[in-house]
Amino acid sequence: MHAYYLSIVGVLSLLQINESFNVKENLSKDFSYSGGKILSSMNCEADPFALEVFRSNVEKNLGDPALFPGTIAVETRVINILGSLFDLPSSGTGVILSGGSEANLTALWAIRNNNASSHNQQKPEIIAPESVHISIDKAADLLQLKLIKIPTTPQYQADLEAISDAISKKTIALIGVAGTTAFGTIDPLKELDDICQTYELDLHIDAAFGGLIFPFLPKIHSNFNLSFDDLQSLVSITVDIHKMGRVPIPGGGLLWRDATYPIAIQFTLPYLAGKPKQITITGTRTGASAIAFASLWEKNGFQGFQETVMSCLENTRYLSVELEKRGLLIPIKPVINILGVTTPSDFPFNVLELHKILWQHGWTTTIVNGRLRFVVMPSTTKNQLRNLIFLIDQLISDG
Ligand SMILES: Cc1ncc(COP(=O)(O)O)c(C=O)c1O
Repeated sequence: MHAYYLSIVGVLSLLQINESFNVKENLSKDFSYSGGKILSSMNCEADPFALEVFRSNVEKNLGDPALFPGTIAVETRVINILGSLFDLPSSGTGVILSGGSEANLTALWAIRNNNASSHNQQKPEIIAPESVHISIDKAADLLQLKLIKIPTTPQYQADLEAISDAISKKTIALIGVAGTTAFGTIDPLKELDDICQTYELDLHIDAAFGGLIFPFLPKIHSNFNLSFDDLQSLVSITVDIHKMGRVPIPGGGLLWRDATYPIAIQFTLPYLAGKPKQITITGTRTGASAIAFASLWEKNGFQGFQETVMSCLENTRYLSVELEKRGLLIPIKPVINILGVTTPSDFPFNVLELHKILWQHGWTTTIVNGRLRFVVMPSTTKNQLRNLIFLIDQLISDG
């Protein structure tokens, strides 16, 4: 069965567990990033050097500082590196955790607890553009927060007026996105911050994907203001290292402007040496991804990361130009390495048909908001994209 039906396979295989199950045989059904044909994922093949470092550090546990003080120091180094990209003040802090979902959940947990007494509400409200990742919905559900989602503008950005209108006495925070999951768009962060200042609200920015893209764009490109200096109400930023950071999963990051903020979610672990205090959901946390990221940064520096970003953007530009030449439509001009494509009425295939055919040829895409979505990650080269364009040409000529 084709991996396109993965969720169904997952359910069936639970019912079929028996002695003849063979791990290797099953894994052979998986796609591999190394083929360069995965255009549906925000993860990618790990950098080979980062992978090697990760492999030799798999036992490192950030949850046990007495045993792994060196790894804790490396985590601090990663927070400093990430912090330098967003002007994190020296009074700030952060943690490396399993990914964007956990980072968003932890951020909202801290926001809820910090606002608990001042708002004294049964069910505090948070407001977000409807472009937010589903992890925000999950977090709101877990934390008993009411999530008010506001339709975006046609450019798939936060609608400032509608957001302002939705604010009530129960509102405790706004959420902005830098690099939406669907199309990579970025919300008007400065304006969101202005609203937060007017109404005395906290601001959390989900830059799980865009956090390792926007800071590397030439300043001339970016009035993106993804900076603690520029955004006075900004309390926390999510930024993943296992997406554009090219380290093996799991690797998420969460930065707080003020180290006192997460004290509201702090717990002491009485059974561990030194009785450490934790501000994370999980106790045991891998240190390997933090070590891999710090080592990769040591090797490649800002410039190396920037080259990766610029090459993805160039490949995205190439793909969008070539698709448009063939009559496909790209309603939102890509800001980063995600394209949302539609087909005109005289095109031989509609979006769903094209999506299915591409999967049959091993190119994985997704359909989001009715558009065929391509995520151009570092594992996909321009040559591979040329092959994709060649395939699309063939499909068009075969009709
Ligand atoms: C904007 C954004 N936030 C959060 C997440 C969740 O990240 P993870 O899958 O690492 O939990 C994603 C995932 O793609 C994302 O795009």
